[in-house]
Amino acid sequence: MKKKIFNLLGKIDKFKSDHKEEIENFRIKFLSKKGHITELFDEFKKIPSEEKREVGKILNELKNQASAKIKFLKNNLKNKNVSEEKKIDLSLESTNFFGSRHPVSIIQNEILNIFNRLGFTVSDGPEIEDDWHVFSSLNFPKEHPARDMQDTFFIEKNPDILLRTHTSSVQSRMMENNRPPIRTVSPGRVFRNEAISARSHCIFHQVEGLYIAENVSFADLKQTLLYFAKEFFGEKTEIRLRPSYFPFTEPSAEVDVTCSICEGKGCNVCKYTGWLEILGCGMVDPNVLENCKIDSKKYTGFAFGMGIERIAMTKYQIKDIRLLFENDIRFLKQF
Ligand code: DAH
Repeated sequence: MKKKIFNLLGKIDKFKSDHKEEIENFRIKFLSKKGHITELFDEFKKIPSEEKREVGKILNELKNQASAKIKFLKNNLKNKNVSEEKKIDLSLESTNFFGSRHPVSIIQNEILNIFNRLGFTVSDGPEIEDDWHVFSSLNFPKEHPARDMQDTFFIEKNPDILLRTHTSSVQSRMMENNRPPIRTVSPGRVFRNEAISARSHCIFHQVEGLYIAENVSFADLKQTLLYFAKEFFGEKTEIRLRPSYFPFTEPSAEVDVTCSICEGKGCNVCKYTGWLEILGCGMVDPNVLENCKIDSKKYTGFAFGMGIERIAMTKYQIKDIRLLFENDIRFLKQF
């Protein structure tokens, strides 16, 4: 009997587990009514009385050891569960807890990330601006008809304080405050005194791009925009530049991308042309460089500007711009 007890003591000593069921099975095997220890107590009754003292002692020891082991393993299990519950996964995005990003933010971040990879920094400027940064420095002379292209909300007249009509105002601030090379993208909100409809809103967002250095050419502009278009709309995307006019760039162009929905074949989103207009661009006019105290003989540069809502509407096939401002949860939940 002593041998059996020592054998079981060895087993108890070796037993390890962090599974609830295994620990319970161990308890049944050793301490239940049909377990080893109960069996041994029955056997104990039959042994000669002179052995009882010694065997009784180790038998009690066996029982204590088994109970202590189970208590120890159960405690370990409890602590483990608690610490697992308390563990914080720092890699989880906080957005998982607080709903989802607005489609305009999603698109804006995507655009900024692409230009980031090309070495563009991110910059911003004020929404309440003066005439100089929104118009005059950008080669819109007073009374020039080009000012009518952008209906302005004025806050004060003389001197003019207004809500910026485009993020090109950040261009002139960046050129005033930094020396070339300058390579920056400027996202932000812009305001125009326009009637609200399915296609236009009086508040929307733009991303402006600016690159000023020595020997920057139109080919650099085209290549940068092609890279952007392929990264954003997909590898098969082509771009097309159409001559256009902006006071602050010369030459100027409007850029179309092949429609990503029909891959250029023609559908109702691209009005069966196969192309979608996404931005305006051009080489920074030397007058603008000089207005911002940059030597136009030494430096050249390109600029571009795009509307984020328009790109979001193209990408997600949203038919009405107003949906992007109404904060209807049924709409926002889809992104
Ligand atoms: N600021 C123009 C607009 O709001 C967009 C634009 C066109 C920006 C050409 C540019 C550019 O930098 O070169 O319509």
